[in-house]
Amino acid sequence: MRSKENPFKPTAGGEPPLLIGRKRIIRDFEKGLDNSVGAPGRIMLITGARGTGKTVMLTVFGDRARARKWDVIEETASEGLCERLVNELRARDTALDRLSIRPSLSFAGVGVSLGEAELSPKRMPETLRKAMAERLVSLEKHHAGLLISIDETQAADRSDMIAIATAIQHQIRERRNIAIVFAGLPQMVSDLFNDEVIAFLRRAKTNVLTDIPVDEVRAAFETTFEASGMAITGEQLQTAARATEGYPYMIQLVGYHIWDAADLRDSDVISDRDVSDGLAEARKDLDNAVCIPELHGLSRRDREYLEAMAQSDGPVATAEVAERMGKSANYAATYRKRLLDAYVIRETERGEVDFAVPFLREYLRRTAA
Ligand SMILES: Nc1ncnc2c1ncn2[C@@H]1O[C@H](COP(=O)(O)OP(=O)(O)OP(=O)(O)O)[C@@H](O)[C@H]1O
Ligand SMILES: [Mg+2]
Repeated sequence: MRSKENPFKPTAGGEPPLLIGRKRIIRDFEKGLDNSVGAPGRIMLITGARGTGKTVMLTVFGDRARARKWDVIEETASEGLCERLVNELRARDTALDRLSIRPSLSFAGVGVSLGEAELSPKRMPETLRKAMAERLVSLEKHHAGLLISIDETQAADRSDMIAIATAIQHQIRERRNIAIVFAGLPQMVSDLFNDEVIAFLRRAKTNVLTDIPVDEVRAAFETTFEASGMAITGEQLQTAARATEGYPYMIQLVGYHIWDAADLRDSDVISDRDVSDGLAEARKDLDNAVCIPELHGLSRRDREYLEAMAQSDGPVATAEVAERMGKSANYAATYRKRLLDAYVIRETERGEVDFAVPFLREYLRRTAA
């Protein structure tokens, strides 16, 4: 009998039931927690294109830390990041103090809101540092550590990053039990972390989430379909796995829609038609959730640059793109920079450009025709 519930989950962020190819990075993180203060895994950067599983990684890390009785603060970078961190650090501190048996504790100062001055940009580094230190001191009484995770770090203000880096550096110097993970689009490293003031964070362990090998996708599909009571052939598995190109979001979409196609027929045997229908649905969802939003807000010229790029099957030199566009190298360089800034394309080690998200090339070819 097949299960009632589709075992694939193409939704953002939460831990997917099927988590493939991330064993090493999870292990590195856990080692960081289990080894003492100053272990390399305690300051981590996670980068990768849209839909590669950065938020999922943070969710998993949070769970692993909680399982070790660590306290976890999960934030997303946007205006007021440090202020929110300070509030969370203090709110939890009072909650913890109330729980502990300390009869002499006076509640007089508890819950008092922060003064404006303390939260002014100038005072923020000091305010955050103090809030972190106080929190860590009270956690230490319970032999617990603190994990802070920041998602969408590429959107962080430089001043917030400076305050966070300074505060963390202090806690580490004081040998406190703290870990921090920043996740964001690849450019965050060059935009934020190469900054002089944040030099300290350059020591962080950087993990780039890349595509998952198709073999691993296939193996994971096989176990997942079987475990849910759906029969699928080796050839169908191969077709499905190959179509994902190892892109994590597409893995969930493909699995979900193929499973759903059979479920719709009330069958527990995948047919070839289920596979082709499922793949078509998956591509449609990918267009809507990734390709169209990526292109949204770009100018016609930006798009011309991308279409010229899409004529190649892989990375291409900007000079070549310029030639295809019939424009000067200077002209093309302007659009190259704009597209890099918008995270639509990325620069390869050889200085060529490639699409930041797989499938964008295919989408452009399909829609240009
Ligand atoms: N290792 C993995 N194995 C299988 N599926 C995964 C894996 N990592 C992520 N996914 C799936 O991919 C999708 C995207 O994951 P997630 O939202 O974490 O990506 P992201 O990198 O944070 O994207 P964005 O940059 O848009 O925020 C989700 O549906 C998730 O379930
Ligand atoms: Mg995310």
